[in-house]
Amino acid sequence: MSKRKHAELLKEKIGSREAHVSVIGLGHVGLPLSAAFASAGFRVTGVDIDTDKVESVNCGECYIPDVPTEQLTRLAETGSLSAAADYAVLADADTVSICVPTPLSKTRDPDISYVIEAADKVAENMRSGQLVVLESTTYPGTTQELILPKFEATGLRVGEDFFLAFSPERIDPGNKRYSISNTPKVISGVTAGCSELAQTLYSTITEHIVPVSSTKCAELVKLLENTFRYTNLAMVNELALMCERLGVDVWEVIEAAATKPFGFMPFFPGPGLGGHCVPVDPLYLSWKLKTLNYTARFIELASQINASMPGHVVRKIADGLNELSKSVKDSKILILGVAYKRDVGDTRESPAIEVMRILAEKGAVLSYIDPYVPALEIESDVYRSRELDPATLERFDCAVIVADHSCFDYDMIVKCSRLVVDTRNATRNVPGDKSSVMKL
Ligand SMILES: NC(=O)c1ccc[n+]([C@@H]2O[C@H](COP(=O)([O-])OP(=O)(O)OC[C@H]3O[C@@H](n4cnc5c(N)ncnc54)[C@H](O)[C@@H]3O)[C@@H](O)[C@H]2O)c1
Repeated sequence: MSKRKHAELLKEKIGSREAHVSVIGLGHVGLPLSAAFASAGFRVTGVDIDTDKVESVNCGECYIPDVPTEQLTRLAETGSLSAAADYAVLADADTVSICVPTPLSKTRDPDISYVIEAADKVAENMRSGQLVVLESTTYPGTTQELILPKFEATGLRVGEDFFLAFSPERIDPGNKRYSISNTPKVISGVTAGCSELAQTLYSTITEHIVPVSSTKCAELVKLLENTFRYTNLAMVNELALMCERLGVDVWEVIEAAATKPFGFMPFFPGPGLGGHCVPVDPLYLSWKLKTLNYTARFIELASQINASMPGHVVRKIADGLNELSKSVKDSKILILGVAYKRDVGDTRESPAIEVMRILAEKGAVLSYIDPYVPALEIESDVYRSRELDPATLERFDCAVIVADHSCFDYDMIVKCSRLVVDTRNATRNVPGDKSSVMKL
């Protein structure tokens, strides 16, 4: 079949919803994406090496809070969405979106092994007429330099026999305002034809598409977005350290500065950065630049400041306990919120883990409360979440607010705790005596 025929046929199939859509990796990104394509009328097959996830999807049981269970159950029951652990299902797929993890290795370099494994498996099962879109966040050049050669090694030609694009995922777990449908989607194909087909596919689930001229540019867009957060958060984290020395409330400074109606965007300090994206993605960019003999200085500096914040929180706790004539060793310390941010259950790279690790090393007796995280393992110690009530709070020497979940009763936390270390300014609206509260 000619190049035009492949592209036209796929375009028609997408338009008529006859295209068989597949998604590799059914995690925080891949499952909502699969549900969005299935809800748009496509038959969708997800592929994941985790057989528990495969079974859950096939039973219509949801494990990602952003996808409502009723939606998943309906999609599974109608056969619109199914899952498999075997890549052989791709032989029948018209489109393949790759959403596998891109974490850091132990040495904090990019661990691209999941992308390589997925790309190798896609290549093994590739056939003419398929569109493959990489969504995993990665370093500039991955699509063109790493994925494309693997696919072309099959003997098929890009832009003629198959189509390849990069489109970074932008989901924000727990965000009630922005979802896949109303968050603009950046897309670029390896060729103009690849770009057009990827835009055709994603415009079925997203209102606004932002085409860019190269896959390298699209890859860098995502890294810029997260580096922007990373460096600005480092800047306000350092502001918090400076404010402590100046005897000024950092939160008051930022909130007052944010009243400026132009040229200022507020970022708030915290106990350190967490999640799968913001603390990780900038290091993909700095790593790539190292290979080009360039040091990404802003990222390096931001990295140092952000990484120092859990240690700063521990120093605050030690100062507060000192006022009570206590040491960290043997003090009973209650961590409130171990997820990496408010109202989610994701603990990946959570600063609470590092805070708890340092405290445990110093001999503190630790517990935590997080309604979104029933159990937490840190260096082979398993902790289980407790219930938040006055009697529990009264039993501890110090309560530390690390993730400011909206379900926490902050009035009760302040009233019933001997000492509160508040790393998120979560107690700002608590009325009355707050002499027991130490802010970041
Ligand atoms: N979570 C977010 O908020 C977010 C936002 C934007 C971008 N991203 C990016 O999206 C990508 C995926 O992130 P995530 O949060 O969904 O990760 P995740 O860990 O939640 O999910 C990844 C899934 O891929 C599966 N998997 C791993 N290797 C596989 C393979 N070879 N074949 C098939 N399945 C495989 C895992 O079992 C897991 O279910 C990452 O690059 C991440 O940086 C994540």
